[in-house]
Amino acid sequence: MTRNNDRADWWRQAVVYQVYPRSFHDANGDGLGDLRGVTAKMGYIAALGVDAIWLSPFYPSPLADGGYDVADYRDVDPRLGSLEDFDEMVAAAHGAGVKVVVDIVPNHTSSEHPWFRAALGAGPGSPERERYIFRPGRGEHGELPPNGWRSCFGGPAWQPVGDGEWYLHLFAAEQPDLNWSNPEVHEDFRRTLRFWSDRGVDGFRVDVAHALAKDLDSRPLDAWPDDPGQDRPGEDNPLWDRPEVHDIYREWRQVFNEYEPARFAVGEAWIVPEHQWRYASMEELGQVFNFELAKANWMADEMRPAIEEGLAAAERSGSTTTWVLSNHDVPRHATRYGLPQVKSAEHHQLANDWLLRDGRSYREDRALGTRRARAALLMELGLPGSVYLYQGEELGLFEVADLPWDALEDPQARTTAHGDALKGRDGCRVPLPWEAAREDFGFSAPAEHAPAHLPQPAWFAGHAVDAEERDQGSMLWFYRRALAQRARLLTATGDTSLAWVSGYDDQVIAYERPTDDGRALVSVTNFGAHAVPLPEGEVLLASVPLEGGLLPGDACAWVVR
Ligand code: GLC
Repeated sequence: MTRNNDRADWWRQAVVYQVYPRSFHDANGDGLGDLRGVTAKMGYIAALGVDAIWLSPFYPSPLADGGYDVADYRDVDPRLGSLEDFDEMVAAAHGAGVKVVVDIVPNHTSSEHPWFRAALGAGPGSPERERYIFRPGRGEHGELPPNGWRSCFGGPAWQPVGDGEWYLHLFAAEQPDLNWSNPEVHEDFRRTLRFWSDRGVDGFRVDVAHALAKDLDSRPLDAWPDDPGQDRPGEDNPLWDRPEVHDIYREWRQVFNEYEPARFAVGEAWIVPEHQWRYASMEELGQVFNFELAKANWMADEMRPAIEEGLAAAERSGSTTTWVLSNHDVPRHATRYGLPQVKSAEHHQLANDWLLRDGRSYREDRALGTRRARAALLMELGLPGSVYLYQGEELGLFEVADLPWDALEDPQARTTAHGDALKGRDGCRVPLPWEAAREDFGFSAPAEHAPAHLPQPAWFAGHAVDAEERDQGSMLWFYRRALAQRARLLTATGDTSLAWVSGYDDQVIAYERPTDDGRALVSVTNFGAHAVPLPEGEVLLASVPLEGGLLPGDACAWVVR
């Protein structure tokens, strides 16, 4: 039987498991996860049945933004290991039939990157400053920022350096934006792509892929609006989703095509879906994250358009789309689905507001969140395209909303006073529980070890890998069974067609896919309050037990006919 990973275009319909290395598994006992920790758990990853892992940044970094502030793009942070450890991890992954995708952060470096240090030392007008975006301040002595742009983490997007110039940082001040009008920047990233490809990496995830090209010169800086808006793309937006950004990815495509099989990339671009297809075309990255599922409430009339948008984008790009429920930037979906579901614009506000109050204002309904998370997984896994899973969702983890303020690491939590600040994204980045009985839940391998870098709640015990291993009804076993069926039925031929199944009311999402053995798989998800009938056929999987042969609400089933 052909396996998905035997195909050169394996990434078109892959299941990719996101590893957040600092919080996955700690092999050396310093309280931070590391690459040897990933290697040690490769058997677990392979047994889950995923095609690939994507590693969030593991490069040398002062950790001003969880490693998305890179000080050296072609090395491993010594706290996380060495290049030899990386090679061993890749060998272990490939030996287990698992591909490896790494994160590339091209919009900004760390302020500790040698280039930025040199830029500070060299002064205004120097070639060193030309690698970044320095501009003179306004006011008599340059004491005012060049304009009113705000950073994504709050506060101004400009930082003064003491000689009348300011530099642009769309994220934290420790993340100065690179100048992609400078050929040297292009050259250096091509080198980085080759460096990791030569080490056996199969693909790349491109951080804030829509921000690289900027226009700061076509009009006076202070003529731009303070917030150009990530969702208002085009010529008229100086920062986000500019047309020239596509030149960069066409250049990267040539590098990807130097390899056999050609490498691919998946771009992170929080922009309107109609604009995503160009990034995903085969002239550019191959794939882009479709975040519409992650943005949708647990409501049929939000999920259906989210699926339709993804399918339409795939058709336009000539590639496939991706499906995401959770990642390291959003509250975990088992929690989101257990909160009151209000229409989407308010939804994120609600989740954020809830986090802000440490989850004390009300508590998520965990049984309901879990039930819906199981249904969501089945609904997602049957869709054509790639599925990106986030570490810990296979254990049914909830957001850890009540982390103490002084433990938080996310720059989002640092930018304003506690009263009105967001608590940020650490609640989904708490180190994984492996063993229920150990005091750090087995996050660190050595018996003697430093505390985990973010505190784990007591309820993690019930979600530890060893506890879930023992329980055939656990989320872990549900993921394994669903992934195995997907691999067995839906990925060998490369067929990505889908047909909607009619005959249900608007509380049901039902679609049909051809299976690799010439039958059809029907996926039925019921968002309503009343149980619904399933089509004739073999019920392969159901997210909860059927009730008298009917599919109850907040549930999904796969039927093969
Ligand atoms: C992306 C990452 C996020 C990071 C930001 C800045 O959105 O996913 O974690 O903070 O880029 O690099």
